[in-house]
Amino acid sequence: MSMNRREWMQRGATFALGVGLGGRALAAEGKRPSGSGAPAASQKFPPKFLWGAATAAHQVEGNNLNSDNWLLERAPNTMYKEPSGDACDHYHLYEQDINQLADLGFNAYRFSIEWARIEPEKGFFSRAELEHYRRMLEVCHKRGLTPLVTYSHFTLPRWFAYQGAWENPESVDLFARYCEKSTAYLGDLIAYAATFNEPDIPYLFHWISFPGAPTGMDLAGIMAAQEAALRQQLNAPQFSSFLIGDAEKSRENMMSAHTKAKSAIKSTRNIPVGFTLAMEDDQPEGPDNHCAKKQADVYGPWLNLAKQDDFIGVQTYTRSRIAAKAIPPPIGAELTQMGYEFYPESLEHTVRLAAKETGVPVIVTENGVATQDDTRRVEYIRRALAGVKRCVDDGIDVRGYIHWSLLDNFEWIFGYTPKFGLITVDRETQKRTVKPSAIMLGKIAKANSL
Ligand code: BGC
Repeated sequence: MSMNRREWMQRGATFALGVGLGGRALAAEGKRPSGSGAPAASQKFPPKFLWGAATAAHQVEGNNLNSDNWLLERAPNTMYKEPSGDACDHYHLYEQDINQLADLGFNAYRFSIEWARIEPEKGFFSRAELEHYRRMLEVCHKRGLTPLVTYSHFTLPRWFAYQGAWENPESVDLFARYCEKSTAYLGDLIAYAATFNEPDIPYLFHWISFPGAPTGMDLAGIMAAQEAALRQQLNAPQFSSFLIGDAEKSRENMMSAHTKAKSAIKSTRNIPVGFTLAMEDDQPEGPDNHCAKKQADVYGPWLNLAKQDDFIGVQTYTRSRIAAKAIPPPIGAELTQMGYEFYPESLEHTVRLAAKETGVPVIVTENGVATQDDTRRVEYIRRALAGVKRCVDDGIDVRGYIHWSLLDNFEWIFGYTPKFGLITVDRETQKRTVKPSAIMLGKIAKANSL
């Protein structure tokens, strides 16, 4: 690895303004006219900039039988549109997929290892499954791809869910043990470790409006109702899961779990550790808006925690205009398949915010758009990258851009309908077809320049 923590902190500290999450600073950020500054001197990105695509185990591997999600997707009255099934069979086809990414010109791959496979029963660690992820890492290295590994991307072992998931204080030690065992087996091949993917999502649910939801119920309410129903159906009074659990209890344990897992990882192998954060580009609407409140509520504690880390992963897809609550996209705005606004400028704004609030290097660990029209993905990527370049030109320490996603995959409750991939997957034959956006982004990656 070419970086050490002190070097990162020193560079990052230059940009830390030492201010808390404040409405006015953020309001200015949100309103910042993108692309209005002087033209950038060069279109080049810094040397060793990471260019990659991302996946998450459950969304692409298929047959994640021991995970909590497998149950959730099949429960009566499930909120999932369809079950994940074979997904993209990336579990078997990973070599072909990683080779494709390298052939396109990329130099990084972000993926997650699946706790439900590695520890399918409490205390039993499967050497065979660890060996599987080792083989994936080896292919990355063979093809010159820097591997960024997420240890927990939403899904959990079933047994962990049955004992209350993150609501149970024992989760802290159990997660740290899993991270330690995995690092002992895989750590020599991991370049960047993220403990959690988007641990702030349950809080974000309070602020997201969900078309078609029962009146007065936010997404968090819907999730809580699912948890209650599942407990009854499974006759499991403690059953909980990341997306449907008690957000408050879970956050406290997850924050401790991150800290404990980080030292477990680092004492096993000194690799850069952080987590990735779900961020919307929050823009205040009206004088009595709750923009600052939302930011303090959703990101505040995590941004604060990230100050101790080696990097922060920024993940963003759209903006959110906030009055008392989030308001719908402007009339006539282009919408993505997810129902939210096509707004690539959100990336520049959230990168600036994360860098300013944490003072640590930023890696864009997810950014993308759900669309059937690949020309819109091309447009989205170009505009998002122009924003990243402006951040770099302003001296912000951005280390990479990892696109979501490598493949069209299982988009959680929305099933296989939304198309986020750079590559399409025929789910009958598992045949992959590269989209023009993949070729375009691969060329940028190869040139390290826009
Ligand atoms: C998650 C991914 C998801 C993507 C697109 C992120 O919130 O990390 O798992 O597929 O957004 O919605």
